[in-house]
Amino acid sequence: MIIFAFLHELKMLEKIKALQDEIKNAVVSTMEEVEELRIKYISKKGSISQLFDSFKNVSTEQKKEIGKAINDLKNFAFERINTLKEMFESTGNNDQFIDLTKPGEPFKLGTRHPLSLVKNEIISIFGRLGYAVAEGPEIEDDWHVFSALNFASEHPARDMQDTFFIEKYPDVLLRTHTSSVQIRVMERTQPPIRAIFPGRVFRNEAISARSHCIFHQIEGLYVDENVSFADMKQTLLYFAREFFGENTQIRLRPSYFPFTEPSAEMDVSCSICEGKGCNICKNSGWLEIMGCGMVDPNVLENCNIDSKKYTGFAFGMGIERIAMLRYGIKDIRHFFENDIRFLKQFESSI
Ligand code: PHE
Repeated sequence: MIIFAFLHELKMLEKIKALQDEIKNAVVSTMEEVEELRIKYISKKGSISQLFDSFKNVSTEQKKEIGKAINDLKNFAFERINTLKEMFESTGNNDQFIDLTKPGEPFKLGTRHPLSLVKNEIISIFGRLGYAVAEGPEIEDDWHVFSALNFASEHPARDMQDTFFIEKYPDVLLRTHTSSVQIRVMERTQPPIRAIFPGRVFRNEAISARSHCIFHQIEGLYVDENVSFADMKQTLLYFAREFFGENTQIRLRPSYFPFTEPSAEMDVSCSICEGKGCNICKNSGWLEIMGCGMVDPNVLENCNIDSKKYTGFAFGMGIERIAMLRYGIKDIRHFFENDIRFLKQFESSI
């Protein structure tokens, strides 16, 4: 008999808890539904009144505890139903009711463009090395894009084939690389200079899966006393390992740019096959990612920086190329078409 009474009380406590959860989580959107709640729980024949009926069978020792639980539940139900009623009345609209106690709608995040993701990551890596960010104009003049950068007057890069000129104004052109920002920064700042320059560049090239007439570059520049080629190599190795992974190797191959001497192309070990050879690295195990070199003394002098006192290095890379490697994107045109199905794939990225 004692065991039976105990079971009865346990069941009652469970019931009380279940009713409390039900009332707490009830969702209503019309006044009628509030009324239905009232009838279901707190009317004369409602579930709570029924609890009071079964209360008669509770043993004397348990009466205090169970009685309190039922009373608490009753108060809770009255309060909840009254709040709902009041809120509902205060909206003054019986058809549409906003339950302010409901959890909010999940916040939908937008997507960042993959080029922005890569650009921001590069900025953040060089930021950790103390590089500031600077920008320059896309519409430039011959001095900043070519002459100050030591391009000979007959250099093919100045040719109409590569550069977009403005017909009426031969000195006005769209920059073909972000190296023009080097000049703008050096013209107005004396060393030490340590900065990177992200931006859009333009070349008169046919659009295909591999090249576009508009693309993006990030340029880097470090000028100070005693800056050496070894400093450049170490900086670029740090960048490569931060961006492509800690086991990445780099390789510098001799190259030529009018504004750097000596100049090099930098390759990183292929992060896809880990140097073993695959179709992305054309079985070489290496991927070419940037041009670099020591700033030519003529360039420093063109910007009124004493080339006897200061040396520096510069480097430049294409953001599209790096993003294609990072995300396995096979066609550069995807970046510019704004196809939502493409962009959505970068949704959860920061
Ligand atoms: N401006 C060069 C290009 O567009 C890249 C580069 C930048 C090379 C800085 C050396 C130093 O290809």
